[in-house]
Amino acid sequence: MSVDAVPENLLAWYDAHHRRLPWRAAPGEAPTDPYRVWLSEIMLQQTTVAAVKPYFDRFTTRWPTVTDLARADEGEVMAAWAGLGYYARARNLIACARAVADDHGGRFPDSEAGLRALPGIGDYSAAAIAAIAFGRRAVVVDANVERVASRLFAFDEALPRARPALRALVDRITPDARAGDFAQAMMDLGSSICTVRAPQCLLCPLSAGCAARIAGNPEDYPVKAAK
Ligand code: ADE
Repeated sequence: MSVDAVPENLLAWYDAHHRRLPWRAAPGEAPTDPYRVWLSEIMLQQTTVAAVKPYFDRFTTRWPTVTDLARADEGEVMAAWAGLGYYARARNLIACARAVADDHGGRFPDSEAGLRALPGIGDYSAAAIAAIAFGRRAVVVDANVERVASRLFAFDEALPRARPALRALVDRITPDARAGDFAQAMMDLGSSICTVRAPQCLLCPLSAGCAARIAGNPEDYPVKAAK
């Protein structure tokens, strides 16, 4: 399997096996409301999908739009966040909702650069929201994506120093169309099949072209610098 076949094989797998999540459009459906994509991406930083789901449902029921959240009582938002941890995220959440409501007419910017200018939105979140909510081609790299890509290419340089080179490899396999589905497919593959320990290569749609699987040592990737 050549590198060119990676997006095609991965997207076919995603069409058949994607997780249905409350912030996710089914493949081929219109993208989800950017507010829901943003909220989910902020909640999912350092937190599992299972832990996020009930919080996501409560937040979107209580505050259905970004403008509702912008007008919310800060104490109530902090209380609703309790249990998710990393409380700076919740403070940035309120600041970001207010910036979108006050400075952008209640609509999220649709570019990576515009998104990155908002409170609490870094490189990863800007890329993820641009791709998932706006269909932009963006290179989305989180820990799951790093693991999948480093195995696929048997990427031997140590992280974090070699992160830019690994990102360039993810860029090479990111398609122009369906970049949001592609990113979420990489995340799903990393969390369900291409796991840290005991990856299930027999089930993997990319195994035929995976250099680490062919070499027989997928668990050796990603290579981390010695502490
Ligand atoms: N982790 C962070 N964002 C995610 C997403 N959109 N889908 C699945 N896992 C994620």
